[in-house]
Amino acid sequence: MKLCITGGAGFIGGNFAHYWVNTYPEDRVVVLDLLTYAGNLQTLQPILDRPNVRFVRGDIRDRQQVEALFEQEHFDAVVNFAAETHVDRSVEDPEVFISTNIIGTQVLMDACRKTGVSRFHQISTDEVYGDLPLDRPDLFFTEQTPIHASSPYSAAKAGADLLVQAYHRTFGLPVTISRCSNNYGPYHFPEKLIPLMITRALADQSLPVYGNGANVRDWLHVSDHCTAIDLILRHGRVGEVYNIGGHNERTNLEVVRTILKALNKPESLIHFVKDRPGHDLRYAIDPTKIETELGWKPQYTFDTGILQTIDWYLTHRDWWERILQGEYQDYYRQMYKDRP
Ligand code: NAD
Ligand code: DAU
Repeated sequence: MKLCITGGAGFIGGNFAHYWVNTYPEDRVVVLDLLTYAGNLQTLQPILDRPNVRFVRGDIRDRQQVEALFEQEHFDAVVNFAAETHVDRSVEDPEVFISTNIIGTQVLMDACRKTGVSRFHQISTDEVYGDLPLDRPDLFFTEQTPIHASSPYSAAKAGADLLVQAYHRTFGLPVTISRCSNNYGPYHFPEKLIPLMITRALADQSLPVYGNGANVRDWLHVSDHCTAIDLILRHGRVGEVYNIGGHNERTNLEVVRTILKALNKPESLIHFVKDRPGHDLRYAIDPTKIETELGWKPQYTFDTGILQTIDWYLTHRDWWERILQGEYQDYYRQMYKDRP
């Protein structure tokens, strides 16, 4: 198989590229990534010298470049991870979220149509469903839950999903969509909750918890996300949406306390700060469809996965310390300056 992984220098795309190259070493893998602030070639270093792996620096919005690449490679499948992904950044500046997440997806699908790609898989998110109330633990997102996005980020992802479904219905493009809950694991950029808290706790810095820390996320180890995408690519039904999640709900405060305990750091590091505007209360996935239809089962519980992840950050300081030394410091000052 000839596979194109867009956004493969980012967190989940990078983990997926590792997963695919190691699981299907005979396949050709082309990673297309713009290397924005979130993209990091160091993430791909362990697989870049494989003869059947190619890295292309490029923008999924660049029609000319994308179509030339697709004409040259004639992919069998495209998995689109490329996106602007941080909710807080989308509150500061929505524009690039609209262009990358929606227009970029359209450009990729047009190239798929032109070159007869057999599968376009869109990596979507549970955030397109909006949120669930905190006092209704019986409610979950199913594939039938209406789209109801809260942030410019999730609205842009929802827009892309609608476009993917429209390309299937109108043009017969063979698409699938997956909507996963919050991922964590190796190579996670330290602007997101779990790596932010691990790296700051290690430096004995304050840990900024939004609001009262009671918001709930449903955490999935990134390697379990990768196996789910693999199953959807090989056995998923064209035109279908698959939710992915492992029933690992935790409040943000529980997550931060777990990290502090594992690192033997004091809870006095926790600092409650001004809440995120429009902050979604609770995400929780019902994974019945992917479990029953495709036989997917996650390998990690949150308790085992978080320890593996903390261990990875302890043993890969070089990867994240480089990030923290760059423009990241300006980002942190800017993003948290109004959150005293
Ligand atoms: P990330 O921010 O770590 O990586 C995004 C990657 O996309 C980066 O390598 C970046 O350089 C690249 N990119 C950005 N704009 C591009 C463009 N115009 N052209 C080409 N490449 C571009 O993101 P992530 O957390 O790995 O998320 C990957 C995908 O998974 C996203 O589509 C996201 O919406 C979705 N998702 C993420 C989570 C999560 O918890 N992180 C959960 C569910 C779904
Ligand atoms: O659910 C899937 C989504 O998960 C993905 O689609 C997004 O790309 C990904 O970024 C993630 O979105 P969240 O907003 O849930 O993730 P984030 O790590 O930014 O925040 C997780 C929770 O932690 C959220 O309730 C906000 C809170 N938080 C976050 C940060 C960065 C804090 O309390 N303090 C912080 O400093």
